[in-house]
Amino acid sequence: MKVLGIETSCDETAAAVYDGERGLLSHALYSQVKLHAVYGGVVPELASRDHVKKLLPLVQQALTEAKVAPKELDGVAYTAGPGLVGALLVGASVARSLAFAWGKPAVGVHHLEGHLLAPMLEATAPEFPFLALLVSGGHTLLAEVRGLGDYRIIGSSLDDAAGEAFDKTAKMLGLPYPGGPALARLADNGKPGGFEFPRPMLDRPGLDFSFSGLKTAVVVAIRGRTLDEQTRADVAYEFQQAVVETLVAKCARAAKQTGLKTLVVAGGVGANRRLRAELQTLGERRGLRVLYPRPEFCTDNAAMIAYAGYRRLAAGEHDDLKIRATARWPL
Ligand code: KG4
Ligand code: ZN
Repeated sequence: MKVLGIETSCDETAAAVYDGERGLLSHALYSQVKLHAVYGGVVPELASRDHVKKLLPLVQQALTEAKVAPKELDGVAYTAGPGLVGALLVGASVARSLAFAWGKPAVGVHHLEGHLLAPMLEATAPEFPFLALLVSGGHTLLAEVRGLGDYRIIGSSLDDAAGEAFDKTAKMLGLPYPGGPALARLADNGKPGGFEFPRPMLDRPGLDFSFSGLKTAVVVAIRGRTLDEQTRADVAYEFQQAVVETLVAKCARAAKQTGLKTLVVAGGVGANRRLRAELQTLGERRGLRVLYPRPEFCTDNAAMIAYAGYRRLAAGEHDDLKIRATARWPL
């Protein structure tokens, strides 16, 4: 079974082809990051317009690289939500129209299901059930992944997502967008102990997160001060440390609570080296296997959508002729 996947939920335009027998055949992606950088964040209208320009050539590229003709496809999967509604509509309309024109079934996929299943694209694929930490610019959640479509959210952020907290703090420190990677680089030169930031919600039971208080603590610490390079690096160091320790402590708690022995980490913040190092230590201490999709599948991509769509179509599901785009859609 061969499935074309399409992703346009935010600022990445992507297409991929997944084959049930041979695995991933191709994936093509265009990132709009430069387009939005001057504004310091994603501008929804510009994102939609750019998806319109880039999507069809990427679909063509993915099919060519996979050496698959449209008639050989068994279906088209697309991200139906959650995300920016205008951006979603571009992918949904193109996917639904292509499927109709080619006489194939279409299936709208939940973006977070894509992220949760992304590690299945790797050679060391986890087996159900596993624990997943999803940390991106839009989401922070811990989930028990028991099987296809069987997900239990056991913790999520009450306010800012982890990536959003990185981006906002980076902005305060005068770093360019996207701030997460820039802040992490700055933190490499930071020294511990210069600042004391809270570890949000660690003093309470439960698996939820909250990062807005930490952001406020940074505001208060630097307000009215002119920071030299070393001090900025020290703030970045302690901020990163506070986020990482919080995430790791909640993962440890979740592993204990569920008894699960495999933790999968997905989303852009999963690229953070400090987080990876501390999760590795946790894994060694607790006998927890920690897995990551390859870096390009940690962030938004169409391979994960093609894969999730393949699993759904293989299970006999597909949509009617409706074009689905749902900005807010619980998993
Ligand atoms: O998953 P993603 O590419 O996009 C979505 O949000 O869907 O995640 C992007 C987020 C941004 O907030 C970015 O600043 C953050 O991930 N990020 C990082 C790092 N690399 C990306 N945050 C901390 N450290 C990093 N190395
Ligand atoms: Zn995403």
